[in-house]
Amino acid sequence: MEVRLNKYIAESGFASRRKAEEYIVQGRVLLNGKVVKNLSTKVDPFTDVVYVDDIKLKLKEKIYFLLNKPKGVITSTADEKNRRTVVDLIRTSEKIFPVGRLDYNTTGVLLLTNDGEFSNKLTQPKNKFKRVYIATIDKDLTEKDKEKLLSGVYIEKDKGKFLSGVQTKKRKGKFTEISFVKENNYKIVKATTVEGRNHFVKNMFSSLGYRVNELGRESFGGVTVKGLREGEYRIFTYKEIKKLMDNS
Ligand code: URA
Repeated sequence: MEVRLNKYIAESGFASRRKAEEYIVQGRVLLNGKVVKNLSTKVDPFTDVVYVDDIKLKLKEKIYFLLNKPKGVITSTADEKNRRTVVDLIRTSEKIFPVGRLDYNTTGVLLLTNDGEFSNKLTQPKNKFKRVYIATIDKDLTEKDKEKLLSGVYIEKDKGKFLSGVQTKKRKGKFTEISFVKENNYKIVKATTVEGRNHFVKNMFSSLGYRVNELGRESFGGVTVKGLREGEYRIFTYKEIKKLMDNS
């Protein structure tokens, strides 16, 4: 996740982006020991070392956690009904927030961070990170419906502004892969999508008359919660972040 040098300098609190550009052009900025005057130079915040004059810059600490979300916890930083949130499960003094959203009773992979740019990158639809879900549905998924889910179904009423006021329109969604977790069991479905819309999996199935009774996210961009029990978490490392970014 490289950033432009002037942005990096501004994020360190040393100077505004405009001032930073002046320093760069004046040859006062060293990147990994070398003077850089090119304004489009990019910096890897995790590995590069930047000095302005003789001062080594340091970014505000960014922190990343990987949680195996349990049931009965809301994916938010606070709840008006005082229910437990995913942030309550993590011991840190940093102001972190969840990356995207899992429903109250959905389990599995959830990242949390104080890095807004990282979060945006992962959740922006155009970046198409793969999400793999295991859904237990209330009746056998037929072959015909499986094909429909793969080719696309209308799932939600989207609020859009039109000249005549606010109207609703339905938008299509689709899974990119569907398989069954157990042989001869057509109720436990592994479904892959690049979509992050709220309640996406449930809405997909309910559009064809199925109810999702259990839902777990097995992976996000290749990241799994292997080794973590439900409710457990660990630091998500810079190395893992790099690998995840390569998976988009
Ligand atoms: N889709 C859903 O319906 N719920 C989730 O929690 C995640 C994806």
